[in-house]
Amino acid sequence: MPLVRFVEPNGAERTLEIVTGTSVMQTAIRHSVRGIEAGCGGCLDCATCHVYVDDSQLHAMPPASAQEDAVLAAVAAERRPTSRLGCQLFVPVGIETLIIHIPETQL
Ligand code: FES
Repeated sequence: MPLVRFVEPNGAERTLEIVTGTSVMQTAIRHSVRGIEAGCGGCLDCATCHVYVDDSQLHAMPPASAQEDAVLAAVAAERRPTSRLGCQLFVPVGIETLIIHIPETQL
């Protein structure tokens, strides 16, 4: 089963199994990962599941959809080239452990 490593702004990490077909956000909420709010439950409406994909893995991720890109305009923390919404992120085939950095704030 693929893994997701969540890295908090202070460097603390948690590595969790991700059920195939479920999103990074769903995994975070299921395991009460600090710093991911997901207020809309994955409806692409709140931007509080904002995360940063690790630089080393960005090339392996499919691009954000136009709708995701539009919602990313409303994130509270700095938007970076690696910014994505956790509710739209799934572990791509070929990656055993997806590394995700959590922003300083979601609100
Ligand atoms: S959970 Fe609301 S946009 Fe991802």
